[in-house]
Amino acid sequence: MLSVENVSKIYQVGTFGGKELHAVSGANFEIHPGEVVSLIGESGSGKSTIGKMMLRLLPISAGKITYNGRDISTLQGAELKEYYRNVQGIFQDPFSSYNPIFKVGRVYKLIRETFFPGMSDEEWDGRVRNALHAVGLNPDECLEKFPHQLSGGQLQRLLIARALLLDVSFLVADEIISMLDASTRIDVLNLLADLKARGLAVLFITHDLSLGYYISEKALIMHRGVIVEMGLTEKVYNNPRHPYTRHLMMAVPRLDRKWPAGEAELPPAPATNGRAYYDTTLARSRNGDAEWVRPVMVEVEPGQFVAVGKR
Ligand SMILES: Nc1ncnc2c1ncn2[C@@H]1O[C@H](COP(=O)(O)OP(=O)(O)OP(=O)(O)O)[C@@H](O)[C@H]1O
Ligand SMILES: [Mg+2]
Repeated sequence: MLSVENVSKIYQVGTFGGKELHAVSGANFEIHPGEVVSLIGESGSGKSTIGKMMLRLLPISAGKITYNGRDISTLQGAELKEYYRNVQGIFQDPFSSYNPIFKVGRVYKLIRETFFPGMSDEEWDGRVRNALHAVGLNPDECLEKFPHQLSGGQLQRLLIARALLLDVSFLVADEIISMLDASTRIDVLNLLADLKARGLAVLFITHDLSLGYYISEKALIMHRGVIVEMGLTEKVYNNPRHPYTRHLMMAVPRLDRKWPAGEAELPPAPATNGRAYYDTTLARSRNGDAEWVRPVMVEVEPGQFVAVGKR
């Protein structure tokens, strides 16, 4: 299980790095085996920053991330290697994951050298074939090609096959559908559903609300670095509580409902035990000083949590 505990990320920005940008503030959530969790938010809300911290591609400013109880920032050497055998990421632009001057099959050779040095050629070839078949690719056709000779969807599937080869238990999938055309999208989505059926857990990062709804049983809604609402996808989508989530859901045309005449009015959000919902307009306007208000998650209904301000 992966657990994100009070995790924050502050980037130093400005000409001389004199300013701070709170890209992620006090994120708290868990992902269990076999769970698909969507991380949804507009551009710049901090989604990729969370994904990269989980993959240890970025250091954490505060808080910790644990994998089966171990703080991932303390992993080194063989343990870190083991972590990456279990936890892998796939990113939006599949081309960036390949070196254009090498055939794509090289990615697989590297995995073998790193993780399975003792395996016989025969067993390894069998594994590669199985993984490629599982993602609907023909091994004889694609491994000898250069990245530019394959489509974005094929490259994306090769990366998923790579995760299969490693037999990962957790995948960070950061906007992996965005670059694909409509028919390939469905294939990759179905593939993710298959992986989930095998017990793989996925953090599915997207700015597309409908994709989040389609694919996940849990959803995290992020705005300006803060997870403002999270919980069972059904509840978060059908009965959003935080003003930002409500705003987001109102903005989506719904096929099961007629649009109200005139401007859409937001119904007032019900109060939560007298505490104010976390105000994301404050989130990045302060500089980490004493006035900084940390979001606190409150369970408003079984399986549904909303961020409130501490004060
Ligand atoms: N290396 C960096 N240095 C400084 N600021 C950064 C850095 N990386 C990201 N940021 C800023 O942190 C914030 C969050 O960025 P992040 O990439 O996590 O957003 P995102 O939700 O993934 O957005 P998108 O949907 O566009 O991918 C943004 O304001 C971004 O400009
Ligand atoms: Mg991103």
